[in-house]
Parts: sequence; structure tokens; C-alpha cells
Amino acid sequence: MRKGLRTPLLSGLALALLAPVGAQGVDAQEETKGALEVAPMDERYEDSFKIGAAVEPYQLEGIHGDILKHHYNSLVAENVMKPEAIQPVEGEFNWEEADKIAAFANENDMELRFHTLIWHSQTPAWFFEDEEGNPMVEETDPERQEANKELLLERLDSHIKAVMERYKDDVDAWDVVNEAIADEASNEEGLRESEWYQVTGTDYIKEAFEAARKYGGEDAKLFINDYNTEIEPKRDHLYNLVEEMVDEGVPIDGVGHQSHIQLDWPSIEESRESFEMFAGLGLENQVTELDVSLYGYPPEPAYPTYEEIPDSLFETQAERYDQLFALYEEQDADLSSVTFWGIADDHTWLNDRAEEFNDGIGKDAPFAFDTEYNVKPAYWSMMDDEVPTEEEMEEGVTVEGGQLPDTATNNPLFALMGMGAATLFGALLFIRKRRSA
Ligand code: GLA
Repeated sequence: MRKGLRTPLLSGLALALLAPVGAQGVDAQEETKGALEVAPMDERYEDSFKIGAAVEPYQLEGIHGDILKHHYNSLVAENVMKPEAIQPVEGEFNWEEADKIAAFANENDMELRFHTLIWHSQTPAWFFEDEEGNPMVEETDPERQEANKELLLERLDSHIKAVMERYKDDVDAWDVVNEAIADEASNEEGLRESEWYQVTGTDYIKEAFEAARKYGGEDAKLFINDYNTEIEPKRDHLYNLVEEMVDEGVPIDGVGHQSHIQLDWPSIEESRESFEMFAGLGLENQVTELDVSLYGYPPEPAYPTYEEIPDSLFETQAERYDQLFALYEEQDADLSSVTFWGIADDHTWLNDRAEEFNDGIGKDAPFAFDTEYNVKPAYWSMMDDEVPTEEEMEEGVTVEGGQLPDTATNNPLFALMGMGAATLFGALLFIRKRRSA
């Protein structure tokens, strides 16, 4: 729940007028400030949920490590705890990089999410090869298919056993199965027809959770994790699967909502409905991979450099973060953790996506800290106690479709308007100061 009201330093009108010339240098609170000079995000939300970040081991040191210690109280590995990193060859486990993240979380009293035990992607091919090294999915003989299924489920069990026995005491929440539901359903249940599914049906999902309970113990918090959990029909397909698991007594504690989202998509209402649906099954929600892309999908066009991204877009993003965190606080009885899929804009998988769709040149900027580790408008809005009105929440954030917005640097009229507004605002401040002196 929101804990109180903060008086905004700038009136909404002044802020709106000033937005085109950028907020920097206008508001004392929005001067360029380093991430280490401002109040910690995790403290702001300590009564509601953990604030996490996805990291690569190199980010545990230097400026990244300092920002992690200052702002975050939960960690997840961006890559090094995925099956291909942990068990690249059958029976050969590679713990070194994953251990570094677990140790850092321990030393700094942070929660740790484990991502991910079972997934169709970033999983080595050997998992899905039969005794002769042939792809299991190509087998047509029913008896051999049955033997393959057994072998694959044994591999699932031994992977989960090895990982959980090692990290049982370090991990607070486990992504047991990642992305079991397809975007566009090719079967009625909307199940992703991965190799896991083709060989075992839905048994791999249930057996993974059973094994996780067995090796992780009663206290292990077990999550199913997916993206677009707000969007129908995917949301309903996930709901139906999870409901069936709950009904059948499969040990599941929560739903991870990846939340790779955009400035105006999905709506706050869709997100709220999704949280409430899963909480209605008695489950916990976690936001597990939050990033707010500046673009739609595919991200075309994208700004070629970070410097070319207009301040007005950062303001729009701040509005979006304001509404999201208001929603998260509203839902905090059933929402235990909010994890960003990165620390600052210098490192995000969304850049790869922007490049992929724009001939190798494109930058995204999804987080609260910029590429130089300074705070962005999104940081201030997240830290704000001011509750957006119901109308604002309903309206959401509007962005012109596919159009990169006009800014002070590409539209002189905006620059003039901004300068005019700044002068007016300065004069008002001056008069107010004189009056109160
Ligand atoms: C998915 C996965 C993550 C990560 C992101 C993009 O959301 O769950 O592990 O790979 O995609 O990087």
C-alpha cells in the first residue's frame, strides 16, 4: 500500500510544459545525480516487496556492485544459472559463475531468485538426445518413445537434484519451469510444443515441481515463470494450467510475471487482472524480469544512439513507472518481489533486439539509471509517494504509434515553448520567494 503523500516539487502543468526541453537542470530534485547519491529503491519499498536485479558475474564488482548494494535487496542470474551454463555436458556441472552470484547475495544479505531449472531455450541438446545420440523428437516407435520419456524425466530429476542440493540454503524463490505456454497456441491448452512437451506431454511440468519440492524442501518457494502473462489468450492458458496444478496438489507457490513491457503496453488494468487472477488461486505473484522498452515490437525504428533519445520519452517512461509501482504497491499483499532484468541502461538485452531490427544500430533504455549510472526521471517517479489518480491509471500512457516523438532537438517550436515555460516558471518562483521573504 502507498505509505503517504509527497508534495510534488513541480506542479503538473509546469512539468508538462518543461518536458520538451528536458527535466534536467529545472527541478532541484531532477538535476543530474549519480545512482549512489540518491535514496535506495529497496528502502522505499521495504514494507511492500523486494527490489531485485538480474546480473552477470562481472557486475558484482565496481560501480555495478556498488549500485547493487545500494539499491537492490534481491538478485537473479541473467544467464549463469540456466541449464546450458550449469550442466553443459551430461554429468559435468559448472558452478563457478553461479557460485559467485550466490556468494554475493549471501554476503550482502540479499534474496536470491534461481532462474531457471527447466526451460526449452538455453538448454543443451544432450538433454533431448536418446541413448544413441539421436533427437528424441524424431522417434516414431511407441516403445522407444516411452523409454525416451523416462530418460528425459530422469535427466530432469538429476539436474534439479544437483542444483537444489547445492543452492537450497541460498535461494529464496525458484523458477522451476520457464515459458511453458506458447504465444500463439498450436493446441487448445496453449501449451508450448517444446521438446520437453513433445517427449513428455505436461508431465515434465508436474514432475519438475514435484522434484523441486522433494529436493528443495517445504520452504522452497516454487514458481512458474512466463512473459505476456497479462495478455489473452496466453494469460488464460497459463491460468488454466496453474489451476489444474493447484487442483491436483502439484506443489506450486507462485507465478513469475516476466514483464518485458513497453511504454503503453500492456495496460495497467490487464496487469492488475492478471495479478488478481493468480492471487485468487492462493498463489504469490512476483515481477521477475521487468524492463520498460521505449519501443513497440518489433522495435522499429529505434534511436541509433543513447544521446539521441529525447528527454520527453524518458518523461513518458517515468509516468509509466509511476503507474506500475502504484499498481505493485496496491497489490503488495500478494506480490513479494519486483526484479528488473538489469541494473542500468548500459547493459540490457533490449539493445540486442533494437540492433537486430535496425540493421545493427539501435539503443533502448529500459531502467531507472542511465548508461552513466545517473538517475533518470523513472527513478524519481518510482520513489514518489504521490498516487496517480484512478483516471490516470485507466488512461495509461499514450505514445504515438510507431512515431518517434518530437523533441526540443528536432522541433524548434518545442524548444521555444520549453524556454518560454522555463522563464515563466522561474519568474513565478522568484515572485513567490520575494513574497515569502
Ligand atoms: C526471457 C528469459 C530470460 C532472458 C530474457 C531475455 O525472458 O526468461 O532468461 O533470456 O528472456 O534476455
